[in-house]
Amino acid sequence: MTQDELKKAVADAAVQYILPRLEEDMIVGVGTGSTANFFIDALAVHKTKFDGCVASSEETARRLKEHGIEVYDLNTISEMEFYIDGADESNEHLHLIKGGGAALTREKIVAAVAKEFVCIADESKKVDVLGNFPLPVEVIPMARSHVARELVKLGGDPAYREGVVTDNGNIILDVWNMSIVDPITTEAKINQIAGVVTNGLFADRPANVLMLGTKDGVKTVKAKNQ
Ligand code: 5RP
Repeated sequence: MTQDELKKAVADAAVQYILPRLEEDMIVGVGTGSTANFFIDALAVHKTKFDGCVASSEETARRLKEHGIEVYDLNTISEMEFYIDGADESNEHLHLIKGGGAALTREKIVAAVAKEFVCIADESKKVDVLGNFPLPVEVIPMARSHVARELVKLGGDPAYREGVVTDNGNIILDVWNMSIVDPITTEAKINQIAGVVTNGLFADRPANVLMLGTKDGVKTVKAKNQ
């Protein structure tokens, strides 16, 4: 199977996972990226079974609307049962690296509101130690050089993601060569640097369930020690 076929299979499985618990007045949080796009397309078939969605990016909002799904402002929502999103890496505790698509900040906000974060990914995303994928950090533009210097002090090798402006009007630094053995501490430390909006570690609020598309079918993993 190709990577796209694995992504589609896991997205379809995620729809089947939430389907029995969908209710007419429910709002579903939706992530960003190619796996999330497969999820949106599969979810759209069942759009009469829930009220609408909150989107983690302008791109996701556009795709949801194209399917005729109502998109709500998060500020109008008091609770959300599910948030479904992809990831760039996951460890066994379902700590994630996200932000390959530069949507990490809105993704982290929507995940914070949801009761259950279902991460959907192909099997290449499961790793023993996070950090082979460069860690995205969203930064206020005027703080770019300062934040880069501070990231070097933390042992990373930051690179400016050329030509990318986030939905929030900020820039992305991708931090290479960090072996992230304590994701909760690293997430907090980076977020304390003045000028950082947030970083792509989802460890303080990890996924609750990881659905992995593998050649042998979709495997559902629950976090250890969560
Ligand atoms: C976007 C993300 C995505 O979830 C992550 O990059 C995975 O993307 P894809 O599903 O295309 O592999 O965090 O900011």
